[in-house]
Amino acid sequence: YRHLLGIGGLRAYEIAYLLDEAEQWIALNRATAKHDDRLAGLTQINAFFENSTRTLLSFEIAGKRLGMDVVNMHAAQSSVKKGETLIDTAVTLNAMRPDMLVIRHDASGAVALIADKVDCPVLNAGDGRHEHPTQALLDALTIRRRVGRVEHSVVVICGDVLHSRVARSNILLLTTLGAEVRVVAPPTLLPPAIERMGVTVFTDFDAALEGAEVVMMLRLQLERMVGAFVPSPREYHALYGLTRERLRRAERNALVMHPGPMNRGIEITSDVADDLDRSAITEQVEMGVAVRMACLDVLTRGRRGVEGWA
Ligand code: CP
Repeated sequence: YRHLLGIGGLRAYEIAYLLDEAEQWIALNRATAKHDDRLAGLTQINAFFENSTRTLLSFEIAGKRLGMDVVNMHAAQSSVKKGETLIDTAVTLNAMRPDMLVIRHDASGAVALIADKVDCPVLNAGDGRHEHPTQALLDALTIRRRVGRVEHSVVVICGDVLHSRVARSNILLLTTLGAEVRVVAPPTLLPPAIERMGVTVFTDFDAALEGAEVVMMLRLQLERMVGAFVPSPREYHALYGLTRERLRRAERNALVMHPGPMNRGIEITSDVADDLDRSAITEQVEMGVAVRMACLDVLTRGRRGVEGWA
């Protein structure tokens, strides 16, 4: 079996394959009867050691629409609270013979550690600052459908890049597919040597927006800034907040994206976020279900004896 721990290591044709597979689920998700049930009989455990709305619910919905028995483990209500270690938790879940483990954790690398200890495919639903591969896939699917292509598109990623697994996975995916990626952040929220990832670095948001076709805003991750530089929300908004006026600097129909949850009034104003002609934020959530159905289907093919990616 094969895991999906990150976009790093995936080739362009594998990413394109997952996006094509996701595309086929969109119509089913928009129909009244939403079941395919090709994964009936399989068990999916979603083990979330960190809070989530979009990722947890869309993985649960995706698994159920494919017919799997889906159970959720919220760390806050589990024996993790009694001091059980990550490895003991992984071994315990594995003993229940799941066919798929979907894991979110606040520590970078924790999902890979678990993947090493279990006998089924593991899907990374976000680990610390490291990767959030299905977020990057759903973002790419959204760009492909709304802009018409990912290759050669000009994408600005703005905000708290330092703490963002979303930014990291998106940079890896978008550069692999041949997009031009510009990264904008205050100098204190830029990872060291980020330009080695094939992006152009800006600290001036207005300059970065010239010619942009996609503007992807990131959440200020205040929960990861303990003991570190914490920008004042008002100053941050003045320099790095996406307003309607600022958006005029981008291409005429530039697409606005945000992975959610949003800090309205800090990284993005409500009039921009809620403008459905420009903002793809709810469409990103919709694409998330299709992408996760594709990943669950593809990653369980080995177990089901079905030919394909895994
Ligand atoms: N985008 C995202 O991962 O959202 P959640 O934290 O709500 O899952």
